[in-house]
Amino acid sequence: MVSSVTWFRFAPPRPCRSIYHICQGLRRRADAILVGAETVRQDDPSLLPRPARGRKPYRVIAVGKKRLPSGLKVLTDSAASRTLLAVTASARIPKSAAERMNVSGDRRGGVSMPSLMDALGRRGLLHVLCEGGGALAESLVRHGLVDEYVLIYAPSFLGGSGAGALRGPGWLMSEKPALEIRSVEQLGPDVVVRAR
Ligand SMILES: NC(=O)c1ccc[n+]([C@@H]2O[C@H](COP(=O)([O-])OP(=O)(O)OC[C@H]3O[C@@H](n4cnc5c(N)ncnc54)[C@H](OP(=O)(O)O)[C@@H]3O)[C@@H](O)[C@H]2O)c1
Repeated sequence: MVSSVTWFRFAPPRPCRSIYHICQGLRRRADAILVGAETVRQDDPSLLPRPARGRKPYRVIAVGKKRLPSGLKVLTDSAASRTLLAVTASARIPKSAAERMNVSGDRRGGVSMPSLMDALGRRGLLHVLCEGGGALAESLVRHGLVDEYVLIYAPSFLGGSGAGALRGPGWLMSEKPALEIRSVEQLGPDVVVRAR
């Protein structure tokens, strides 16, 4: 069993100066960084802590029905052997140094988040940092698998119909997840809310 799933967990040993430092610190302390396939398709992130020193967390990509491009950084860079592609048995993935990790499927054609967390826990990856996108985050929240949230607000608007923090069917008011705010901190122009 995974003991803790964090969504941008924030537990600095000393005051951090910027959102950048918070995010890199979160990555550095995680055993694994989890994102959905659409985030790597659209952004092609490396997901590694910067600057590149010290231990490297595993990178876990939840892949559903669509194919992944073969040239992605997580599949081709020097840490690619520590990338885990979480897929169902029938999924097709490009040949690469990344490791295939078969887990059960869910009713929506994705991988089952409880099964994925169990599989990561069995490998000793107990602290998982989810960096989105919205569809994956919704699945984790829906299954009650998030232990801590770090919500970062910038004083601006994006607008449009793009991906939000959570993307999916949503909840009835009576079923909405209740968060308890632990702290609110202003860092320069941004606000960091930590909640459970
Ligand atoms: N502002 C931020 O901090 C931030 C962070 C991350 C991402 N983003 C943005 O978010 C966008 C992508 O987010 P998104 O919501 O479209 O997609 P996403 O959550 O990144 O990925 C969704 C995909 O993950 C796969 N998946 C497998 N199991 C799943 C499950 N149980 N639940 C949900 N998905 C599962 C599916 O892959 P298949 O497609 O293969 O079926 C699904 O289409 C990008 O534009 C990115 O730039 C923003």
